[in-house]
Amino acid sequence: MRPVRLMKVFVTRRIPPEGRAALAQAADCEVEQWDSDEPIPRKELERGVAGAHGLLCLLSDCVDKKLLDTAGANLKVISTMSVGFDHLAMDEIKKRGIRVGYTPDVLTDATAELAVSLLLTTCRRLPEAIAEVKNGGWSSWKPLWLCGYGLTQSTVGIIGLGRIGQAIARRLKPFGVQKFLYTGRQPRPQEAEEFQAEFVSTQELAAKSDFVVVTCSLTPATKLLCNKDFFQKMKKTAVFVNISRGDVVNQDDLYEALATGQIAAAGLDVTTPEPLPTDHPLLTLKNCVILPHIGSATHGTRNTMSLLAANNLLAGLRGEPMPKELKL
Ligand code: NDP
Ligand code: DGY
Repeated sequence: MRPVRLMKVFVTRRIPPEGRAALAQAADCEVEQWDSDEPIPRKELERGVAGAHGLLCLLSDCVDKKLLDTAGANLKVISTMSVGFDHLAMDEIKKRGIRVGYTPDVLTDATAELAVSLLLTTCRRLPEAIAEVKNGGWSSWKPLWLCGYGLTQSTVGIIGLGRIGQAIARRLKPFGVQKFLYTGRQPRPQEAEEFQAEFVSTQELAAKSDFVVVTCSLTPATKLLCNKDFFQKMKKTAVFVNISRGDVVNQDDLYEALATGQIAAAGLDVTTPEPLPTDHPLLTLKNCVILPHIGSATHGTRNTMSLLAANNLLAGLRGEPMPKELKL
């Protein structure tokens, strides 16, 4: 009998059990994993990927030309345990004919839930309120104390009415939102119909919204989309929430807008860089709530993401249709 040639798979982090189990059961693969919860050092990533047929990576792994060169001609499949793919050099990947798997849909609900939580936490000033209870600042019920902004009768602007954008709108509607506005590359009348959402320019969305939620993907067109000009157009009472990617926002301009009262508050699940250094100016502001990129962080969702990422990888390696393949 001829010895079976195993396909080499490199996994860049410890992943949840369902994904791990699926890979462990793949008799046709030899799986090596960076066995840590912390990011893999670049040198280890280069060592691990060299000669690999499949790579299962995370959004924190930069898969650029150099890494693809290091991987070499064996590399047939990249499977990212994320829906975002701005960490992958897509042009280079396409040139090499490498297939890419990703994890849309399975994280939409968890991420939309987090976006709504972050919006409410920010507009109703929960971190400030919790701090006052703990630090003795709560002296009495006071008519003017810790007032924020409510969703009832409001206008919500959504940058990117995609899967997550729609799921956010669906959850916000029962709070009594009066009007939804959205932007994108083009109008999406079918998706917008459910919310009677109006397609407007980015500038109009900034000017008319009481709440702005950013859920677009990060592309050259959306990079630094929310900048000085954008924040200057926003209402002084408006609240800004970003769950997309940090690079969609010019953080210096956001700091200025928050510090000078140009806008009321901001909630960010994503920043540049990640982690945000603990001495970053945004962290000095009371009206800025920052979370450590936990949009999809429920036990169930992360498990499902890991299984989908594993199944994408295995299907790709076996030349089968992937459950969720990115169209290049
Ligand atoms: P979709 O592809 O369904 O949605 C992306 C949206 O971005 C589309 O509606 C698209 O609109 C919009 N978009 C693209 N280009 C532009 C542009 N130039 N201006 C405005 N909008 C634009 O993806 P998902 O909803 O599944 O995910 C969206 C993003 O959310 C991910 O790419 C990721 O970055 C982020 N994310 C963050 C998470 C977190 O933990 N914080 C968790 C999961 C995702 P159109 O096609 O109409 O142009
Ligand atoms: C993604 O999937 O792109 C998120 O940022 C993390 O779940």
